[in-house]
Amino acid sequence: MAVKVAAMPEPDATAFSADAILPSPAATARLAERMATRLAPGDTLLLDGPIGAGKTHFARALIQHLQSRHGRAEDVPSPTYTLVQIYEAGALEIWHCDLYRLGHPDELAELGLEEAYERALCLIEWPDRLGAAVPPDALRLTFAPVADRPEARRIAVSSPVCWAWVETLLHD
Ligand SMILES: Nc1ncnc2c1ncn2[C@@H]1O[C@H](COP(=O)(O)OP(=O)(O)O)[C@@H](O)[C@H]1O
Ligand SMILES: [Mg+2]
Repeated sequence: MAVKVAAMPEPDATAFSADAILPSPAATARLAERMATRLAPGDTLLLDGPIGAGKTHFARALIQHLQSRHGRAEDVPSPTYTLVQIYEAGALEIWHCDLYRLGHPDELAELGLEEAYERALCLIEWPDRLGAAVPPDALRLTFAPVADRPEARRIAVSSPVCWAWVETLLHD
């Protein structure tokens, strides 16, 4: 994968951003699976990008990989209408959110996402709906189509804090 790593300017010396081409759906799933085992309760991934960019594909691969390690195999439908689907993988709780249809900001409080940030692994599609209410150490993954390559996506990862190990995975 072609990778360009850009150091962010001071004072955010620990921040980073990197990007890569994911040539196929399988490559996206593989990245999700490799990231899955490094993630922990309290981690939040913001899955950005337009409709059809691959956000749910990534989340599904990640959730199913973690569940398979604990002998579970569930369907992972898009939480478009439920807004949130909660999964278990051993002791780990995984929240898969799609906030596209989030209405009034009060709905956010009803979802209980603020509490989930503390104790669960949260995968959030359409994170722009959160406004500023985003965990400060979240990792943003932005998926984008690639011209004339329907099976490829560009992924850009960024965070105000260092997620150096993710960068390592993008290099492979
Ligand atoms: N490299 C790729 N990575 C992820 N999905 C891809 C890729 N190439 C094609 N696709 C396809 O794009 C679609 C992405 O759908 P989905 O994950 O539901 O998008 P989103 O949740 O971003 O709206 C799937 O049909 C998937 O097979
Ligand atoms: Mg989706």
